[in-house]
Amino acid sequence: MIIQNLSRCCLMLVVSVGCFSGCREASEPVVAKFEPNLVMAYRYQVDGEYSAKWTDAALTQADNALGDLFGTPDEPKLPVIVQNDFGDLLNLENLQKAAGPKGLYREHCAKCHGITGDGRGELAALLNPYPRDYRLGRFKFKSTPIGAKPTRKDLATLIRNGIGGTQMVALPKLADADVEALVDYVIFLTIRGEVERKLLRECSELDLVATEDADVLYDPSMKESEDEDAREYFEEQVELLEDFVLDVVEPWSEAEDSAVEVPGRDESVVPESLITLHDILKADADSPVKQSVARGRELFLGEKAACAKCHGKEGKGDGQTNDYDEWTKDWTKRAGIDPAVEAEHVPFIARGALPVRKVSPRNFHEGVFRGGGAPEQIYQRIALGIEGTPMPAAAVTPEQIWDIVNYVRSMQEAESDPTTSAMADESKSAGN
Ligand code: HEC
Ligand code: HEC
Repeated sequence: MIIQNLSRCCLMLVVSVGCFSGCREASEPVVAKFEPNLVMAYRYQVDGEYSAKWTDAALTQADNALGDLFGTPDEPKLPVIVQNDFGDLLNLENLQKAAGPKGLYREHCAKCHGITGDGRGELAALLNPYPRDYRLGRFKFKSTPIGAKPTRKDLATLIRNGIGGTQMVALPKLADADVEALVDYVIFLTIRGEVERKLLRECSELDLVATEDADVLYDPSMKESEDEDAREYFEEQVELLEDFVLDVVEPWSEAEDSAVEVPGRDESVVPESLITLHDILKADADSPVKQSVARGRELFLGEKAACAKCHGKEGKGDGQTNDYDEWTKDWTKRAGIDPAVEAEHVPFIARGALPVRKVSPRNFHEGVFRGGGAPEQIYQRIALGIEGTPMPAAAVTPEQIWDIVNYVRSMQEAESDPTTSAMADESKSAGN
């Protein structure tokens, strides 16, 4: 009974997506909802040749499970197993501070990343790159290798500094405790989204709409059933949910241990200041810096590091430019759809996927480093690759990476150096 009612309600939610802002009476209170992952459910529907009724059942049962595990956008909950076994990872008070209509996340992040963290806030479609959809559980700019989660510090740095060259701005005035609360909330939304993916994948193996003895992913009404078998079945459902949560949470709890340290930098070979780097390169005398840049160039063009393959021989971002990121491939490639054939995207776009865009390798002459322009930050990108994008980790030695860092930075035009323009601004205002 409950399932049926909720199922109808969910269907209405899906059908009325287009009316959210336009059709509501002004006096009705706005209740924030996590949006279901319709794109993924549809992928499984097509894959398994299921009916729309199956999709509705899958979304409803997953939504019930997620509600019991994680609560709502206004009242977050922590799954019991996370509270008991991973108390250090997420703090409920932090989540409460970030959640809710007046919370930090709604104030600073939701307009781009969406209340659900699905990367579909009201501004999302207008932005390039698109804001991150956290639900895939993959992040680009971090101190850990591809496949590992970012550390709390990685996320805090991004939230504090913003992401250069994108619309995600720095928030220098935010208190440290608020940044920490947002880190918790990003991890929370990500874990929720990753668990949702697991639940939908599990549904894809279940006959949820058989007329007799239909499989059930999660049906809380069985908990109080008169029938002992039903109560036992419910216990199994709860255990399965716990397994899924554990699978998702464990890698997060291992993030700090997988962080890769950046080896010490020799300032006389790899200067921190871009101005110093350019001054030394302009000088006539041969120098360790010049030699390092020359070695870096060789490596950049060479086959082993293969940077030029994508970034182009002159680092203008004009090498291989016809690839897509994993957030796109997640629903195109895996559903057997060609990302280049837009007509096939329509049913996915209708369910919330954003129009496909190719991913561009960076043009180093523009001096835009989303993950930060300091030598150590560029080192990290090259040593670890950029997860979710075509850029792999470079298979070269640490000394060689420093040489490449020097070469990459040498391409950046001096006038695009953020430190130069900041200094110019300061001297202007000092003169007034
Ligand atoms: C104006 C839009 C906008 C706002 C507001 C915004 N972001 Fe972002 N955010 C983006 C964009 C765009 C990206 C994608 C950058 C990319 O893919 O290179 C992004 C990426 C991210 C990432 C992923 C970084 C990675 O390594 O993959 C995180 C985490 C993130 N944002 C968190 C936040 C948080 C937390 C807030 C609120 C404090 C916030 N963002 C506010 C636009 C925004
Ligand atoms: C297979 C293609 C590919 C190869 C090979 C490749 N890159 Fe990239 N690289 C990319 C793409 C795509 C991006 C943009 C990623 C994004 O969305 O931020 C990128 C971004 C970057 C960035 C920008 C990071 C930032 O913070 O914005 C740097 C630096 C970089 N690459 C350096 C290199 C170097 C050095 C090499 C060789 C060791 C290399 N790349 C090899 C595709 C590639």
